Amino acid sequence: MDKLRIIGGHRLSGRVEVSGAKNASLPAMAASLLTDKTLKLDNVPAVWDSATMRRLLGELGAQLQQVKPDDPHRFEISVPSVRSFEAPYELVKTMRASVLVLGPLLARHGRARVSLPGGCAIGARPIDLHLSALEKLGATVRIEHGFVDVQSDGLRGAEIYFDNVTVTGTENILMAACLAKGETLLGNCAQEPEVVDLADLLGRMGARIEGAGTRTIRVAGVERLEGATHSVIPDRIEAGTLIVAGAIAGDEIEVVHCDPHHLTALLEKLSEIGIESEVGEKLVRVKGGAGLRAANLRTLPYPGFPTDMQAQLMTLLTQAEGTSLVAETIFENRFMHVAELNRMGADVGLDGRTAVVKGPTPLSGARVMATDLRASACLVVAGLAAQGQTLIDRVYHLDRGYERLEEKLARLGAEIERLQQ
Ligand code: EPU
Repeated sequence: MDKLRIIGGHRLSGRVEVSGAKNASLPAMAASLLTDKTLKLDNVPAVWDSATMRRLLGELGAQLQQVKPDDPHRFEISVPSVRSFEAPYELVKTMRASVLVLGPLLARHGRARVSLPGGCAIGARPIDLHLSALEKLGATVRIEHGFVDVQSDGLRGAEIYFDNVTVTGTENILMAACLAKGETLLGNCAQEPEVVDLADLLGRMGARIEGAGTRTIRVAGVERLEGATHSVIPDRIEAGTLIVAGAIAGDEIEVVHCDPHHLTALLEKLSEIGIESEVGEKLVRVKGGAGLRAANLRTLPYPGFPTDMQAQLMTLLTQAEGTSLVAETIFENRFMHVAELNRMGADVGLDGRTAVVKGPTPLSGARVMATDLRASACLVVAGLAAQGQTLIDRVYHLDRGYERLEEKLARLGAEIERLQQ
């Protein structure tokens, strides 16, 4: 298992490019199951989760081909017919987003069998909302032997209200509704940019969708979808992670190929903490600052502060003067990084779903363990600011969602290397 070694204290400067959004690329790839024509996708990040989705689609019968052999970000997918309806345990256990094949497989092929994801490091994460919405569209849902088996001989449009905002749930049902007979009205939808990106792609494929990016989405079902060409939006969480790295260890860095409109909640929070940023077209410039101020934070569905940035921002708050309260409202167990940050010298206490961060506390390098994707990113950010050497174990968590983060940071002046084992 690879490790990352970071020698902290180097100031970062220069320009860094953001890759395509992992969480937009996964539904975009799954959408290939909705048509027998070819999807041409561009700006797909070369991260493990995208590779896992490619593997899963391959097992289901998809043909995938890179446009250029040396460019993993652009490829064509076509699914002339499915070979299997099943997302196996081995793949679902490494990537919960495998569940995104449920809606499109069912809608075009009448059946899907997906291993139930079960809990994960950040919480229980059930898929009950996906399943009850599919039932409303007319599917029968059976759960047996650890699999969910959904079948239908033709989905019908329905009125569906999600009890809780769910990102992949909204995406799954959006895909299914595109091929349902009649109109579907989805209420309390996720408004995340990744949902909008999927709706854009589906629209290019011939779907009739209104309201993506708002709480209510209306879908008029069509008989078939066509092929399309689509470039995945920039990864707002990777951009945010780089911006926080700049805030904690930067002279000045420029994060390019991002969409600043997707970063409003983060940039406003940084300003409250005392970090000023400048926004240009597709770029954010950020300067590291002294005299940071404590701030309270509450994770919320988009456009609120993203749970996927909570750990990284907490690292910055350890360097701010005063007490910050960080409330995690999306996932019940997303504080695994707290114990590791404390081992590096932070003073963070937990009170249920709220972390109490007292600062500023100098950080010192230590051996730490990555426990999930965003927790790994927060440890990298902490390592940049810490005195001495930080050795991060289980870097495969980071590789699921960040494309060569260590190379990007090294080009900005960080002393960071991957130890391959
Ligand atoms: N929930 C239910 N029932 C459901 C679905 C969700 O109770 O049927 C609950 C979840 O347990 C959670 C909340 O609703 O408490 C929100 O979960 P959501 O369904 O929105 O999460 P997700 O779709 O599984 C996506 C991202 C996550 C991101 C969350 C929240 C993808 C592939 N994953 O997950 O990304 O944290 O939305 O924004 O889009 C990451 O990239 O590190 C990551 C975990």
